[in-house]
Amino acid sequence: MKFFIDTANLEQIKEANDLGILDGVTTNPSLMAKEGITGTENILEHYKKICSIVDGDVSAEVISTDYANIIEEGKKLAALHPNIVVKVPMIKDGIKAIKYFTDNGIKTNCTLVFSAGQAILAAKAGATYLSPFVGRLDDISFDGIDLIHQIRHIYDNYNYKTEILAASVRNSLHIIKCAEVGADVVTCPLSSITGLFNHPLTDKGLAQFLADYAKGNS
Ligand code: E4P
Repeated sequence: MKFFIDTANLEQIKEANDLGILDGVTTNPSLMAKEGITGTENILEHYKKICSIVDGDVSAEVISTDYANIIEEGKKLAALHPNIVVKVPMIKDGIKAIKYFTDNGIKTNCTLVFSAGQAILAAKAGATYLSPFVGRLDDISFDGIDLIHQIRHIYDNYNYKTEILAASVRNSLHIIKCAEVGADVVTCPLSSITGLFNHPLTDKGLAQFLADYAKGNS
């Protein structure tokens, strides 16, 4: 399973990349705004900075919602760096645009996915990645992990090549559950990744080993 970090914060991207286990980055307009990155030119420059840190796919989201402008915006984003993946919302014009990008060798991430039906449409359009939002489903008392499981089953039935990129992953348990049900990728905040390190028996055992070593060397 690939690990993407879901942030536009350069320090956190560097920290995750330095762990040696980072495969890519996802962003969205809200994450950009959270870092104070506003205005088209600044946003485009920020994508280039992210691409200079991480050697992996970087999702850059379009803000257009009609076919012609999604295509124009997506081409501009894709031209920034070979690792840019154009992130397109799950709407009719978005699906048409994903088909166009697929036919023209541009990688895509279909975002704002909340149902298996939407997942089928994106796969048929040839999306590189599909982003079902686990946490936002949990927020409204639907089981987000169940959706990942259902999509995995459907994609395997038809050998769809679209990778399931579990998004809106908010904690370490979500990551483990996504791995259990066969997500291809998880994207999550740095804290969810580093949370995987934690176990009290690891801390206790290490403290004991170091203390015992110190006894023999004092
Ligand atoms: C990533 O592609 C999504 O935009 C992101 O994971 C949404 O996460 P959130 O529901 O925590 O905002």
